[in-house]
Amino acid sequence: MSNRVRKAVFPVAGLGTRFLPATKVVAKEMLPIVDRPLIQYAVDEAIEAGCDTLIFVTNRYKHAVADYFDKAYELEHKLEAAGKTELLELVRNVVPAHVRTIFVTQPEALGLGHAVLCAKPVVGDEPFAVLLADDLLWNRQGRGALGQMVDHVHQHGGSALAVENVPADKTSSYGIVDVEQFDDRVGRISSIVEKPKPEAAPSTLAVVGRYVLDSRVFDYLEKTSPGAGGEIQLTDAIAQLLQSTTVNAYKFRGTRFDCGSHLGFVEATIRFALENEKLSDSAAAAMQKALDELGVEER
Ligand code: UTP
Repeated sequence: MSNRVRKAVFPVAGLGTRFLPATKVVAKEMLPIVDRPLIQYAVDEAIEAGCDTLIFVTNRYKHAVADYFDKAYELEHKLEAAGKTELLELVRNVVPAHVRTIFVTQPEALGLGHAVLCAKPVVGDEPFAVLLADDLLWNRQGRGALGQMVDHVHQHGGSALAVENVPADKTSSYGIVDVEQFDDRVGRISSIVEKPKPEAAPSTLAVVGRYVLDSRVFDYLEKTSPGAGGEIQLTDAIAQLLQSTTVNAYKFRGTRFDCGSHLGFVEATIRFALENEKLSDSAAAAMQKALDELGVEER
């Protein structure tokens, strides 16, 4: 069996409570950074990494995600009639023609691990990627984080989890790994624990929203009972997986914006506005004006 990573799973069935009331009707993953929804950034990263099958785990309220990837006949017709070809291309090309999208439902928000398990019938027994779109990972210098991880897995096998160091008082928001030694960006994980208090955390190396997983993780997910927060945790199944196979921590090149939090979302918006050719000068001027008006320097 080939170890090529072709399938990418996007769990988008969470409740998104940190972005209420907006997330009463809009899935968190549909919130835009400048003009593109978060899910589009993650989808582009997966396609760049070589994935051609995108599996979205949604819930019955999140029609917007499926609608976004569907054909918008009326809109396309109007743009075409108005000769707005640039906009037409934007609308048509949210995914390229060789990529297919599949939607599965998570009937109840029982946790990230449970959401990933819902994709099992579509993934089958091949290695696959998981991307959490609210972590926006961006590499200005080139290949995206998932592409870097997939390249590593294709060459060396095993599973890989994207990691980065977090402040010691933030370990209880993440899965935290213990790695004995890093060789450049990669180190074998010896243990992983979900949301430990700082005093119990084995390190400050946190797993962020990119995974390349061996399909055997499904066997462990099926046997996983609810863990931290009463949810079925992907971390608990990975803790089982690493007993029998190599699971590496991967320190990706690039920047992470935690767009599941208000501050991270604002940071990403500022950064992408400043990086945007058409917006950067006016965005910088608007930011300066806001700082001046608030007298931030005096505080
Ligand atoms: P989060 O822990 O960020 O939870 O989920 P959330 O519900 O999205 O947001 P908050 O914390 O309430 O604001 C991590 C990822 O797992 C998905 C989410 O959509 C998000 O991409 N998820 C979580 C599911 O798909 N199903 C679940 O049952 C839980």
